[in-house]
Amino acid sequence: MSVWAILVAAGRGERLGLDRPKAFAKLGDEPLLAEPLRRLEACPWVDGIVLVAPAGWEEPAILVAEEEGCGKVHACVTGGETRSDSVRAGLAEVPADALVVLVHDAARPLISDEVVERVLAPLSEGWDGVVPGLPVGDTLKRVGADGGVEETVARDGLWAVQTPQAFTAETLRRAHSPSNNLSQATDCAGLVEAAGGRVKVVEGDPRLLKVTSEGDLGTVAGWR
Ligand code: CTP
Ligand code: MG
Repeated sequence: MSVWAILVAAGRGERLGLDRPKAFAKLGDEPLLAEPLRRLEACPWVDGIVLVAPAGWEEPAILVAEEEGCGKVHACVTGGETRSDSVRAGLAEVPADALVVLVHDAARPLISDEVVERVLAPLSEGWDGVVPGLPVGDTLKRVGADGGVEETVARDGLWAVQTPQAFTAETLRRAHSPSNNLSQATDCAGLVEAAGGRVKVVEGDPRLLKVTSEGDLGTVAGWR
């Protein structure tokens, strides 16, 4: 079974608000991108990697991969306007004989072999996609524009999902086909679900926190 990873790192990082894309923010004393690249390179389940970089940052992204000795990185492509566009661009570089594709946010640097193993396993039981998640612990309320609570939402069965998300290559390609409208999707699994695919949730990892704002950089750096 050949497993390819698409590492999406093409976002602007607007909420972080730095002078560079989030993938090049400093995590400790190196660019954030180095951490997930190194981990995917070392992951025994991953055969090849496609890196998706922000427009104008392809060269620095390739340099990080080279510095980390990432021989599994077969291509670095330019991302698109939305995350789904970036996944589609990466998917175009995944070889036709790949059986499984993992899609991972570079913004979640602390990917582990254990979580990769957990998302891959159910694919052999017939699931089309598998995503890691954490059951929602807090009480959820729907809040109106004026700050008033409109509704308390029952949290039973609600999970916050993370990446890496694993799919059979065929499923992911169908979900990102040119005829499909990607604009509503916030993750790959959403596209697969909309196309009628069966997606399973497995246990995620709190350390897969997505770096969104300044404080998250320190938190994630401390967990390494
Ligand atoms: N991403 C991408 N291409 C885009 C948008 C996002 O490859 N057009 C990637 C990001 O690089 C990140 C992941 O998708 O690894 C999750 O996106 P998010 O955390 O929203 O990152 P940004 O879009 O960069 O941040 P912001 O929304 O604050 O601008
Ligand atoms: Mg974003």
